[in-house]
Amino acid sequence: MAPFDMASQLVDFSQPSFWGAAAFIIFNPTFWNTAARTEYSSKTLTRLAGSPRRGCYALAITIFTLGLARDFVYERALRAQPSHPLLLSPLSQGLAVGLLLSGNVLVLSSMWALGVTGTYLGDYFGILMDEMVTGFPFNVSGSPMYHGSTLSFLGTALWFGKPAGVLLTALVFAVYSVALRFEDPFTAEIYAKREREQKAGKKGL
Ligand SMILES: *[C@@H]1O[C@H](CO)[C@@H](O)[C@H](O)[C@H]1NC(C)=O
Repeated sequence: MAPFDMASQLVDFSQPSFWGAAAFIIFNPTFWNTAARTEYSSKTLTRLAGSPRRGCYALAITIFTLGLARDFVYERALRAQPSHPLLLSPLSQGLAVGLLLSGNVLVLSSMWALGVTGTYLGDYFGILMDEMVTGFPFNVSGSPMYHGSTLSFLGTALWFGKPAGVLLTALVFAVYSVALRFEDPFTAEIYAKREREQKAGKKGL
């Protein structure tokens, strides 16, 4: 059997919902990074919404809604895919529960620690955190939001017993890795700039 036939028994690439989920997975982080960079360079959302905080809340609602839509399409996509008996074993099902729990703990505790503006790219609006959050979950993961989300995708894939879900989770991981390489240096620079300005301000006194 050709490798492609084997792969197509595990994953049904003819399902439009599979590609819909893949498109959402790629689109969402691309969208919020583009929106945030545009905001940073031209204050577009601040001007549209009337203030940085309102702009950030509007972006937060948009990102949150896009996330719900993506999760909905992902679940629908999985339902249309073939299951694999190995992924339906008690071990795999137990792992699914553990992944979903730890994924949600990472995401929710990170939102709790950062607040709405800290979670949804407030830095790009000039709404900076007073200081870096170092407690849980940031002492177990550098990017608990992204890592938690990835774990939840994998947990859902295993819960439904779908190899297609594991493949889509690999896509999530890849897209988030690219997003992080793009975001981390940028936000680090936003905070470094504040520090330079604060130091310069003190010298001026
Ligand atoms: C992370 O910080 C929390 C308190 O915020 C603490 O209870 C936990 O033990 C820490 N975990 C690690 C791995 O350092």
